[in-house]
Amino acid sequence: MDLENTFILEEPGRGKKFADPCILVIFGATGDLTHKKLFPALYNLGVEGLLPSNFAIVSFARRDKKKTFHEEIRKCIESHTRLKPFNPLFWDHFRQQIVYHQASLDDDLGYQSLKDLLSELDFTFKTRQNRIFYLATPPKYFPIVIEKLAKNGLIYDSKQESEKWSRVIIEKPFGRDLMSAKKLQKHLSQFLEEDQIYRIDHYLGKETVQNLLVFRFTNPIIESLWNHRHIDHVQITVAEKNGINTRGHFFDEQGIIRDVMQNHLMQLLALIAMEVPHDLSSKAIRKEKVRIMKSICCPRKKLIRDNIVIGQYDEGYIDGHKVPSYREESDIPPYSTTETYCALKLKIPTKRWKNVSFYLRVGKRLPKRTTEIAIVFKKFECTIFDRDTMTSSNVLTLRIQPDEGIALKINAKVPGQNNIIQSVMMDFKYGSYFGHTPPDAYERLLLDCMLGDNSLFIGNEEVMHAWRVFTPILRYLSQNPSKIFPNYHAGCWGPKEADDLIEKDKRKWRMI
Ligand code: BG6
Repeated sequence: MDLENTFILEEPGRGKKFADPCILVIFGATGDLTHKKLFPALYNLGVEGLLPSNFAIVSFARRDKKKTFHEEIRKCIESHTRLKPFNPLFWDHFRQQIVYHQASLDDDLGYQSLKDLLSELDFTFKTRQNRIFYLATPPKYFPIVIEKLAKNGLIYDSKQESEKWSRVIIEKPFGRDLMSAKKLQKHLSQFLEEDQIYRIDHYLGKETVQNLLVFRFTNPIIESLWNHRHIDHVQITVAEKNGINTRGHFFDEQGIIRDVMQNHLMQLLALIAMEVPHDLSSKAIRKEKVRIMKSICCPRKKLIRDNIVIGQYDEGYIDGHKVPSYREESDIPPYSTTETYCALKLKIPTKRWKNVSFYLRVGKRLPKRTTEIAIVFKKFECTIFDRDTMTSSNVLTLRIQPDEGIALKINAKVPGQNNIIQSVMMDFKYGSYFGHTPPDAYERLLLDCMLGDNSLFIGNEEVMHAWRVFTPILRYLSQNPSKIFPNYHAGCWGPKEADDLIEKDKRKWRMI
């Protein structure tokens, strides 16, 4: 790394280096997210010395797992940590900070005993009564858990308390549509101040997503090209090879629009399209993101019909292995009409983005796992070269994951006597340049919450505006369920209608 050219960004709220002592209580502690993401992230933070020295974790779950829980967690950490090899010495220390609390989410007794347990742990670990409650439960439990926590005196009034704090991390989706999101927000605000609510969208914790603002607003050549005069269109792709694994119940209730598009893709879109914020505070960044979301029109029937394609995967082949159709996955009803793919086109009617189309696509069981944003520039009209020798447009690709990096496709002369032009790639790769894998998004976000920094979490207004855009779409889709599902084979790039969607504008989805 070139240290002379390394600048440190001053971020309000991150001045403090070490997080306060605290206890993290995870609700839904036996679920997929806790096993695959939260515990490996906490372990990584611990190994790197970033956890507070006075710290404990309470795993709140219904099943009787007291005896086996630590062993399960160890196995998950071993297979999912990015810090290989697994460090057994650190684990011996770390496991003592993890306590299993068996209780039901809707049973008051469980919260009363949680209160007693937390007091004991405060005494043992000197955690000064600071609490983070992480809601990694199915969304229907969010209101119940918050209410029970508040009624049992586990949430403090942040206006009154200056000595101790309580914060709540809420997983997505926040509501099912605009109405339910508003209702949930109203419910939460009876018990919590806005500064206690950390609405998580883990995409914001990814290094490459954090880099979007740095890339756009610290590179003058980029910022000067970032508008409708130079950009033809933008494509945002979130593709997954995976199906739904063991998350059938959850996914079938949500579908890919609620699960990924309404949140992760909208956040990427907002970061790509927003104007420069006043500073790096969460308030300023959220304000600009909201402006973009607000500007997107609430789509009517015809607009929805013409600009949205949904799909559901049939059986097919992924990496040469046969995989079942969505309807054959466990916990999925045989006639489910839940979408596992969505492509849509939208416009952002601001001065900067006049007439620029944004094409978004997301799908499960596609050929590759990749998330990227491609900025396709306009073709250079006036050229001294023979038109036939011109190659394709410049394309700037921001690879969010995997193989994180930024590539620019440019035209170059092929060495030799003839004037042959070919498109070539200028390619920056995080891995080879910075020499290490970036921390997982959950590491950054958990640590930020401990530090009391909510700038990489989502504000209430952002959630509401994202729902404002997607609620009519979801309503239309539920009133007009697809009769042609399944309509794409696992291992291909989605339904044919998604190609038609972009090709009618004389453009093509990028071959990734
Ligand atoms: C989650 C969705 O929020 O994001 C999952 O619930 C999806 O369905 C996942 O697979 C994708 O995250 P990542 O970090 O693997 O791109």
